[in-house]
Amino acid sequence: GKQLRLSIVVFGASGDLAKKKTYPALYELFKKGFLPRRVQIVGYARSKMCSQELRDRLRNYLEKDCECAEQFLNCCSYMPGEYDASEDYERLGASLQSWEATMCMGARGGGSGGVAPLPSGPRLGRLFYLALPPSVYPQVCENIKIHCSVLYRSSGSGSFGRATVAEVPGRVRLPPATEGSFVRLILEKPFGHDLQSSEVLAQQIGSFWPEEQLYRIDHYLGKELVQNLLMLRFANPIFGAFFNRHYISNIQITFKEPFGTEGRGGYFDQYGIIRDVIQNHLVQVLALLTMEAPVSLHPDDIRDEKVKVLRCIAPVGVADSVLGQYVADKGQPGYLDDPTVPPGSRTPTFAAVRLLVRNERWDGVPIVIKAGKALNERLAAVRIQLRTPAASIFGSLEHMRNELVIRFQPGEAIYAKMVVKKPGLEMDYEMSELDLSYPERYKGIVIPDAYERLILDCIRGDQQHFVRRDELRAAWAIFTPLLHAVDAGAVQIHPYPYGSRGPAAVDPFITESGYARTDYTWQQHHTT
Ligand code: BG6
Repeated sequence: GKQLRLSIVVFGASGDLAKKKTYPALYELFKKGFLPRRVQIVGYARSKMCSQELRDRLRNYLEKDCECAEQFLNCCSYMPGEYDASEDYERLGASLQSWEATMCMGARGGGSGGVAPLPSGPRLGRLFYLALPPSVYPQVCENIKIHCSVLYRSSGSGSFGRATVAEVPGRVRLPPATEGSFVRLILEKPFGHDLQSSEVLAQQIGSFWPEEQLYRIDHYLGKELVQNLLMLRFANPIFGAFFNRHYISNIQITFKEPFGTEGRGGYFDQYGIIRDVIQNHLVQVLALLTMEAPVSLHPDDIRDEKVKVLRCIAPVGVADSVLGQYVADKGQPGYLDDPTVPPGSRTPTFAAVRLLVRNERWDGVPIVIKAGKALNERLAAVRIQLRTPAASIFGSLEHMRNELVIRFQPGEAIYAKMVVKKPGLEMDYEMSELDLSYPERYKGIVIPDAYERLILDCIRGDQQHFVRRDELRAAWAIFTPLLHAVDAGAVQIHPYPYGSRGPAAVDPFITESGYARTDYTWQQHHTT
């Protein structure tokens, strides 16, 4: 009786995100046996279509000619509905309830045609995945609350009685008969466009749902090496011990993509690169990299530490930034050539910002976050550069500094650049590295997609890798003054050619931040 009956409702089921990320991740979980046997996945969106049409669309994003994909698609249905029409949510709520009732009757039906209810009461789960523009979040959250959040349980008398989800301030308690039952919401960014709008949104959503039921997704928190940061720092004194201003000269957090907005300009132009990847993904990386050790691995202990360190970061000033926008080069279009981008837009597609964490551990260590579209390569990595040894007996080691690099993608790797004696008769030295390249070390191990991992966490009720409301507020506070200056047109936007390393002004900016290029380049090991 304690087996979970799980309904997953994907709002925005006909959209891009749902097709490319949500459904494929659900499929992987299904295939690997991580979804309960009794599961239904209901797509909900405004497009008028039937379940079969949704299945036909989704099929293109799943494994081809595969029986498992067909089994998965059989669990998927579709319901067209408006986001603000209560009668549509009533229909959704009723359909969830009738599925749950059937699932609970069928399971232990014994000889009587499978209609007896479970004696102990079923365990029910409803997960609402909002792959939607946040402008509709408040109405969707409200309607789900009113029409779709009442779980049914067995009354023990052959019928299904109502069991409301009783609320205690700050906590939700389900009735004993449905212990382990849950209603959870997964929300996708952007959560507002500055501190104030994000707070308004959080407050609206918060008036319907307590924090415990909200899972704000930041898919960087589902990446293997982002998750490994905690282990790297707090399980390995060899690395953890030098994580402070006495040893570290500067930190670079880099995100590069080799393509432009390519048709996604309509969305991107309202946000720009700072809101698109820096304020969320890269700040999450920064928090995990610089926070103090949490009291325990409890999600709230970890998130408490992230909030603390983020609150030590002063807002970025205009002088601590270099912004850019890509222009056409070598046959590749410029940002303004994207037909979905409004003419004359000054939205940055590149940004480098310098942050300082004002606390005992980090004071005085510049941390540069650099992110851009239409650059020369794909890369997401952190580079922690150490100081040179004091009074070196080897002469200047300025360009041979130790560096610890954590490469999130592509080709996950952790490597440490170091100076070694050049093998041979002479007493020469050179740079080399300690290298933990995942494709080589973990041959044959497939690293799960971030979305897959995060959806599973949500089903399991683990909020560790989801963003809490106060984290979000602290992250917005860092960037809001700069964003307002950019929006007001008060910040210079440097053009840079498509496919380049970014605006020329960024190199001196990074040098000023204490970074010294080393004379050595790590070679990626290709084994796959
Ligand atoms: C998304 C951004 O959140 O992250 C995109 O909206 C960006 O613009 C993407 O391309 C990057 O994710 P990943 O996993 O490809 O590094």
